[in-house]
Amino acid sequence: MAHLLYSLVVLAYAFVPQLVSAACECGYQTHSIKSNENKVFTDVLESDFLHLKDINAQQDWKRQVWDIPAVGTAPWGRNMTLENVILNPLPGDVGTEGVNGRDPGLELRVSAGEPRRGAVKSGEVATARRDMFYGSFRAGIKYTGQHGTCGAFFFYQSDRGEIDVEFLSKLYQDPAKAADLLLVIHAGPEVSTNELFRPTPLSFRPQDGYHEYRFDWTPERITYYADGQFLWETSVGVPKQAGGLTLNHWSNGDPGWSSGLPA
Ligand SMILES: *[C@@H]1O[C@H](CO)[C@@H](O)[C@H](O)[C@H]1NC(C)=O
Repeated sequence: MAHLLYSLVVLAYAFVPQLVSAACECGYQTHSIKSNENKVFTDVLESDFLHLKDINAQQDWKRQVWDIPAVGTAPWGRNMTLENVILNPLPGDVGTEGVNGRDPGLELRVSAGEPRRGAVKSGEVATARRDMFYGSFRAGIKYTGQHGTCGAFFFYQSDRGEIDVEFLSKLYQDPAKAADLLLVIHAGPEVSTNELFRPTPLSFRPQDGYHEYRFDWTPERITYYADGQFLWETSVGVPKQAGGLTLNHWSNGDPGWSSGLPA
């Protein structure tokens, strides 16, 4: 369990419904704390970035490379680069520092300072699998305390099928205020965004340690948890097609969202 809390571990239980028959309900079972129901899933994908020493030793996650120019009120673009995804495993089996001398795990870095080509260097990984169809998705994350970044752990199928956990470090600066996690679903323009956007206060500060962020996606609903505590549930905008997972960390200086640039 200590390993879970210190590493960036993602459990994705995707299932193909026709494989789950009454004759053989084989697979992995999750328990919904909210509705007290159990679900059976056929597949598991688990990644232990606490001990991964070579990014090519695994095929489940791909570092992403792309850039987009500044849009809207953002003064800068974004540039997802290979070098901003940094492996920082523990030197041995246990401990509290990775080989870099910082918190262990996969580092998704946002580069400080004014970018040279107009786009802020940022980090992103996404699953090679794009066939995840329902599941319980979990990541152990320690967020940055540096003002001016956005981070996300999300399921993506299309702009009309997306389930997000989003972090804005600007919301974690005032010790007198509860830190809000942003729970966001994208389901297309016909669904009111009021129903799909939920800032939710956490009982801890995301930069103070590793915490488990989780969303369960079933045909009926999406349920969010942090450290096993229920946060929010919705039956509106539930995606109906398979997709993949992404983890990223970025900034574009937009005062209305990431703010920044980070120092
Ligand atoms: C993005 O980063 C790459 C790698 O560091 C660099 O070669 C490229 O010029 C950058 N592009 C922009 C638009 O910043």
